[in-house]
Amino acid sequence: MYDDNPTLVGIQKKIDESRQGEAFYPEQAREAEESSRHFYIESYGCQMNFSDSEIVASILSEAGYRPTRALEKADLILINTCSIREKAEETVRKRLRIFDKAKEQRPGTLVGVLGCMAERLKSQFLEEEKLVDLVVGPDAYRDLPKLISSAEDGDKGINVFLSREETYADISPLRLDSNGVTAFISIMRGCDNMCSFCVVPFTRGRERSRNAFSIVAEAAGLLDRGYREVTLLGQNVDSYKWENPETGEPVTFAQLLEMVAGVSPELRVRFSTSHPKDITDEVLYTMARHENICNYIHLPVQSGNSRILELMNRTYDREWYMSKVRRIYEVIPDCAISSDIITGFCSETEEEHQDTLSMIEFARYSMSYMFFYSERPGTLAARKFEDDIPMKVKKRRLQEVIRLQTQISYQHNLQDIGKTFKVLIEGDSKRSGEDFKGRNSQNKMVVFPKAKGLKPGDYCYVKINEATSATLKGAIVEG
Ligand code: SAH
Ligand code: SF4
Ligand code: F3S
Repeated sequence: MYDDNPTLVGIQKKIDESRQGEAFYPEQAREAEESSRHFYIESYGCQMNFSDSEIVASILSEAGYRPTRALEKADLILINTCSIREKAEETVRKRLRIFDKAKEQRPGTLVGVLGCMAERLKSQFLEEEKLVDLVVGPDAYRDLPKLISSAEDGDKGINVFLSREETYADISPLRLDSNGVTAFISIMRGCDNMCSFCVVPFTRGRERSRNAFSIVAEAAGLLDRGYREVTLLGQNVDSYKWENPETGEPVTFAQLLEMVAGVSPELRVRFSTSHPKDITDEVLYTMARHENICNYIHLPVQSGNSRILELMNRTYDREWYMSKVRRIYEVIPDCAISSDIITGFCSETEEEHQDTLSMIEFARYSMSYMFFYSERPGTLAARKFEDDIPMKVKKRRLQEVIRLQTQISYQHNLQDIGKTFKVLIEGDSKRSGEDFKGRNSQNKMVVFPKAKGLKPGDYCYVKINEATSATLKGAIVEG
């Protein structure tokens, strides 16, 4: 989910989707291909950023641009950036060096920086990186066509205005690099929490929720186009709150889940991320009531120690988090829980680090995203606390956390041997064209030999006979 690696987006399949219902003949297609301008977009960071790139692609295609996977064919190169850790920013700077070469070979190509790094560095970006023509923050994507035209006229374009209202609710994302089965739907933007280590409130602005009906309509549209799974996205989905302007009635996250689950029993619903302080029993009961709401909760703990949690300003302590985990397993016994963990936060002692290790054992996470602390300029922690844990120690603690989590994930998966799961087929397995891959409700990847008549987007039942720490293997059985 929080991958610092690049993923290239921008595909023919998407072009086909955007042309739905339109008569389009091969000759015209070729002509349009040749005459239209092309954009290339690379995305970094969290799922929200990948989802934003699909909004950007939609805005650009309305403005006459077509996506391309080939950097050398692009008239416009965009990089949707992440600021969450220093490494994420370094990766972006390296990519900009590569784009610089592409620009030399194709003069006139514009380079634009989007997303969180654009928001964090603002005009400083234009000063530091001479090749950059556009700097556009996460709430200013509607302004892209205008900024592009002014950049074409030689004026550098910048808009990093953060909005209190923008949710892009009316924009139908152009699905990029999609498997045609699973899709993200952004349900809110921004974050009103102030975790002391985190840059997101500064780069994404205030929290706001999207019109619930536009979310349901997007889910229904995806179902019509063959998609079978949606993931509702927000930094803190449990604080989703939207007021129906006609009735004045508020819609909570639990109610929204219910509405999306009601689109079709054939459409699976997932969501991310849940903040432990905000997830309610009502959400858990809603999950338990609907078979198509997946039994999987991403519930980042960050640290297992109460003093560190307080310094992090997470607003819960160890005991409170543990009671939340107990409650989840009580209401949904077969729920899988995953986590985000930071090692070596300011002043963390060895004993406090041990508390994080014991939390992994207690919560029995199916998996975790694990990081060492990276100080971010401007955050509360950067201003108030000293980043005093040596890099060597941060990394050693991270290795211990990874080692333990890998063991726990393996044990978690071993317990699935002999069980039968309903699996949504996503496509061919990475290793072999003879096998399908798909996920079970608990979000575990399942690999199994193909069977006649089944295709991506179909559900099937798979009995598990083998497990690693990352994957389950099995064979199709009768449902
Ligand atoms: N909204 C989500 C997390 C978004 S950021 C939540 O509250 O859980 C994704 C993850 O990156 C965080 O959960 C945290 O584990 C990690 N992260 C954020 N800031 C970081 C920093 N300064 N150093 C290291 N990891 C960080
Ligand atoms: Fe960052 Fe905390 Fe908001 Fe998550 S909840 S995005 S960690 S400030
Ligand atoms: Fe990164 Fe911004 Fe997401 S900082 S993790 S891309 S909200």
